[in-house]
Amino acid sequence: MAEVIVVDSAAAAGELVASHIVREVASLPAYTLGVATGSTPLPVYEALAAHARAGVDFSQVSAFALDEYVGLPAGHPESYRAVVDRHVAQPLGLDPRNVHVPDGSLAGIETAGQRYEDALSGHGGVDLQLLGIGATGHLGFNEPGSSFGSLTRVKTLTERTRIDNARFFASLDEVPIHCVTQGLGTILRARHLVLLAFGEGKADAVAAAVEGPLTASMPGSAIQLHAHVTVVLDPAAASGLEHREYYQWAQDHKPDWQGI
Ligand code: F6R
Repeated sequence: MAEVIVVDSAAAAGELVASHIVREVASLPAYTLGVATGSTPLPVYEALAAHARAGVDFSQVSAFALDEYVGLPAGHPESYRAVVDRHVAQPLGLDPRNVHVPDGSLAGIETAGQRYEDALSGHGGVDLQLLGIGATGHLGFNEPGSSFGSLTRVKTLTERTRIDNARFFASLDEVPIHCVTQGLGTILRARHLVLLAFGEGKADAVAAAVEGPLTASMPGSAIQLHAHVTVVLDPAAASGLEHREYYQWAQDHKPDWQGI
């Protein structure tokens, strides 16, 4: 079962996860972080940036993004390459050679998935994978129906996801239809999964992912297959959980030596 931690706010979640990452980097400077984009992980990146400003050295850390849109012009500010650069690589002072994002350019798109899988396995995988969850239950851009064994490949976004992400673009028409995303099988190979969710709009997806049946119709439920999962929520995102009292009880009685 996943460890479920409910904190007061997104900012508190960001600080909790960032402090854990900072401790990990202290013992393994060449740490590999799997980075999600979208709004959810921003408090983690802001807290990490504050640690960097306070002198924490991330210069040997590598980052692997979960996904990328297909067909955006190079340098588009909403391409995940640009987003990861803006929110993670620059503020943390990562070496650009250690920052990896799937290649969403149309030329060679047929091999983009395999190339990314090769890069990930050649590197030795991801130590900690940050995850958000979509209203459709997607992890990465693995929309409902994605196989639990899937690897990085081109997927088609649902209309719901395109509408949700239209806030980052001038209009819905500008939101790409296709993406390259790590598969659920790829994500499950990361050594530690940290799923974050904030706000009431995520409550149903969180409850289904954490407590619902294991089903490809709810890609988030794939986390139940992983041996080390931490789910960090604000009270609104936790509001649909049946066993919330037990999760709190477990937190209240958590041994001091146990990290997240
Ligand atoms: C983004 C990603 C997606 C988002 C999800 C939630 O790299 O992989 O799964 O995590 O769409 O998006 P937000 O955080 O914007 O609600």
